[in-house]
Amino acid sequence: MTTREITDRIRQLKEEKHAVILAHYYTRPEIQDIADYLGDSLGLSQEAGKTDAEIIVFCGVHFMAETAAIISPEKKVLIPVLGAGCSLAESITGEDLRQWKETHPDGIVVSYVNTTADVKAWTDVCCTSANALKVVESLPKDKQILFVPDKNLGAWIMKKTGRQLELWDGNCCVHQRITAEMILEKHEAYPEADILIHPECACASDERILNLPEAYLYSTAGMVKHAAQSGKRQFVIATETGTLHKLEQDNPGKEFIPLHPETICREMKKVTLEKVLEALEKEQHLVEIPEDIRKKALLPIERMMKIS
Ligand code: 13P
Ligand code: SF4
Repeated sequence: MTTREITDRIRQLKEEKHAVILAHYYTRPEIQDIADYLGDSLGLSQEAGKTDAEIIVFCGVHFMAETAAIISPEKKVLIPVLGAGCSLAESITGEDLRQWKETHPDGIVVSYVNTTADVKAWTDVCCTSANALKVVESLPKDKQILFVPDKNLGAWIMKKTGRQLELWDGNCCVHQRITAEMILEKHEAYPEADILIHPECACASDERILNLPEAYLYSTAGMVKHAAQSGKRQFVIATETGTLHKLEQDNPGKEFIPLHPETICREMKKVTLEKVLEALEKEQHLVEIPEDIRKKALLPIERMMKIS
C-alpha cells in the first residue's frame, strides 16, 4: 500500500469505528499529521478524558496509553506497538515504591506521569513537566515529599520551588545525555536564539543554565506556545527532535535548531502508519488494567487535574 492509501484507510476506519488518534509531539511527523489531537503528556491525558469517541488509538509509549485507560475505562484504548516503553517508567515498580514509602511513612508521594499504573496506585499526586512546579507548591510545607522517578525533573523542581524533595534515581535515557556544556556551546553558536529546554534534561538544575537569560525550561507544549508567542526568529530545541515538526509547521519564517540531531526516543518512533492501521483494523492492542489498580491509580491523576 502507498502512504496515501494507508492514511485514507486510517481516516475511513476512524470514522466507521468512531475512533480518535491521540499522538505525542515525539512521534514521527506522519503520525502527528494524522492525529486528531497532538500534545504533551498533560494535554493528552486531558483529551483522553474529554473525547466522546469509542476508541482511542494512542500513538505514544505504553505509560501514556495506560494513563488514558485509567482515565477513560469506558473506552477502548489501543496502543499500536505493545512494546513501546519508557526508561523512566521502567526505573521503578509499584513494589519498589511501596517499600520506599515504608521507610518514610509520613511522606507525600509525587509521581511524574511517566510511571506505570502500579506505581500510580501507590502515589498521592501525579504531575507532568507542565504542572510539576504548581503541584509541588500546592503541598503542605511541613511535609516530606518523595518524588519519583525522574531525578533531573526533581532537581529542577527543588531549585525552582526551594523545597527539599527525596529523589528516586531514575532518568530518561534520551534527555539524560543533554548537558550544560552542550547548551552553552549552542548558545555561543546562536547567541540570538532562545533556548528551549525540557526539564528531564541532565542540565535542568545546573546554575549556568538557570542563569542564562536565553534559556527557558518547558514541557513540549510549553515550547510550542513559547515559539508561537515570541518575537525571536531563532530557537534551539533541547528535547526529542520530533517536536521540531510541529514547531516548523506552526511558525513559517522562524528557525528551529535541534540541540543535537540524535536526541531521538526510539520507543516513540516505533509507532508507524502501518502499525496504526493494523491497530484500527484488528482493534489491537487493548490496554487493560485490573479494576482495583485502576481505581487507585485514578486518584492521584484526578488530584493533579484539579491542581492544574
Ligand atoms: P511532556 O510531554 O510533558 O513534555 O514530557 C515529555 C516526555 O518525555 C514524555 O515522555
Ligand atoms: Fe520516556 Fe524519555 Fe522516551 Fe519520554 S523521551 S517516552 S521520558 S524514554
